[in-house]
Amino acid sequence: MSQLIYEGKAKKVFTSDTPDQYILYFKDDATAFNAQKKDVIEGKGVLNQKIATQIFQYLIKHQIPTHFVASISDREMKVDAVQIIPVEVIIRNITAGSLCKRLGIKEGITLKEPLVEFCYKNDALGDPLMIEEHIYILELATKEDIALIKKQSLRINELLQKMFLELGIVLADFKLEFGKNKKGEIVLADEITPDGCRLWDKETGKILDKDRFRKDLGGLAEAYTEVLERLSKF
Ligand code: TMP
Ligand code: ASP
Repeated sequence: MSQLIYEGKAKKVFTSDTPDQYILYFKDDATAFNAQKKDVIEGKGVLNQKIATQIFQYLIKHQIPTHFVASISDREMKVDAVQIIPVEVIIRNITAGSLCKRLGIKEGITLKEPLVEFCYKNDALGDPLMIEEHIYILELATKEDIALIKKQSLRINELLQKMFLELGIVLADFKLEFGKNKKGEIVLADEITPDGCRLWDKETGKILDKDRFRKDLGGLAEAYTEVLERLSKF
């Protein structure tokens, strides 16, 4: 019998019948601005499970260690149990979102090289931006861990940028989470879906990610379907 061990904003985590493996269940809930804005978007969980599965399989094929084990139903995937490092890693290729607000710069400027930012994964504090030294003060991870996480994040960025570009999609920015498995290895965890990425159609600039919800543009499920359809052809 599987037991709920954690419920996040977009997913639930259950125990599985295999020791040291969990089941991730993708919900239809959409939230933004630290859950001040909420809705249910029918079918989002299924779309995200399928998109995340395709992306994990692509990254694994390119030697990125992840927690992904298998897709087990429309809304569920099996993953290795990990201890999530409470640091969100944001990688930016093009200026958008909070970077523009914070620094007063225009959206849509291609950065000379990818920018890596860290946020403290802490809902009560609103996931604040942190500098690397804050991570060490709070003992969230070691310097060695962060060096590895940065290196992996930049490699993942290269792979995803290349993949999306072949599908006619520009990857402006995205968020990653890492965890430590039983063996103490750091692996990519959580998910990569349009909930945590900025994806723009290369030709038209059409927004294909959760900004459709954040900005009340509508058509979120349709946009995620478009991403999945393009990924399925990859
Ligand atoms: P930001 O511009 O709002 O900081 O977001 C940068 C990227 O990180 C964007 O692709 C959305 C993603 N993101 C999350 O996945 N979760 C979050 O809580 C936030 C704030 C951003
Ligand atoms: N995921 C966060 C929330 O639910 C923020 C966001 O993605 O905009 O509030």
